[in-house]
Amino acid sequence: MSMLRLTNLEAGYGALRVLKGISLHVSQGEIVAIIGANGAGKTTLLKSIAGILPPRSGTILFDKRELRGQPAEKIVQLGCSLVPEGRHVFPTMTVKENLVLGAYSRRGKGRMPEAVRASIDEVCRLFGILRERENQLAGTLSGGQQQMLAIGRALMSKPRLLMMDEPSLGVAPLVVSDIYRTIAALKRDGLTILLVEQNARAALAVADRGYVIETGQIVLEGTSRELSDNREVQRAYLGKEYKRIDE
Ligand SMILES: Nc1ncnc2c1ncn2[C@@H]1O[C@H](COP(=O)(O)OP(=O)(O)OP(=O)(O)O)[C@@H](O)[C@H]1O
Ligand SMILES: [Mg+2]
Repeated sequence: MSMLRLTNLEAGYGALRVLKGISLHVSQGEIVAIIGANGAGKTTLLKSIAGILPPRSGTILFDKRELRGQPAEKIVQLGCSLVPEGRHVFPTMTVKENLVLGAYSRRGKGRMPEAVRASIDEVCRLFGILRERENQLAGTLSGGQQQMLAIGRALMSKPRLLMMDEPSLGVAPLVVSDIYRTIAALKRDGLTILLVEQNARAALAVADRGYVIETGQIVLEGTSRELSDNREVQRAYLGKEYKRIDE
């Protein structure tokens, strides 16, 4: 059963039409990748789902519930959380304070300090460096560490669907593998993930399925294997020496 289902989603900025009728779905427990070049509309898509940018038309069903028109905070409460492009951690707050803020939406259901502390422990088990840097200002972390913090902050809301916008952007290659190992571990723990990347190589290596988006439209969809075997995808997004990690 689909956890998330978009039908004919349209969105844009002023006179600019960006998403021109996007339809896609994400099933429970899947990692689904959205691959696309610079400016294709990937961030616009995630912002529309997250309620940051109100879509113009179409539907966004999350567990059969319409998200379109709901405020961003409510969407987080419903279990759909975004790790934004460029991370946007609060630089003058500590690592721990950033994490605590991520639990803001858990009002009523266990927003007690103990529950928040337990969630911080879970996040720090995932990213050990965050424990070591707990009291350090987030702005002094490296790009990769800030990405880990942004993921951890999103996890603090206890999402069932985690949306990630270019987790590998501006992150050193070795750290990209760390982050992608964590994404695989989150899936093993049962989390459903919608992953947006220009780095098709990293995304398809971890995803179950994917969609290719070009100028606001889905032009191709398939399993990660089908996409990575596709000549056009190889030429446009993967480069020549592409090999799947399971080969
Ligand atoms: N706030 C905004 N106001 C006006 N136009 C915008 C805004 N944000 C994005 N756009 C435009 O919308 C289009 C899609 O942008 P979007 O950020 O969704 O692309 P993207 O696929 O995420 O690209 P990238 O890989 O560079 O992150 C682009 O033409 C961009 O210039
Ligand atoms: Mg983007």
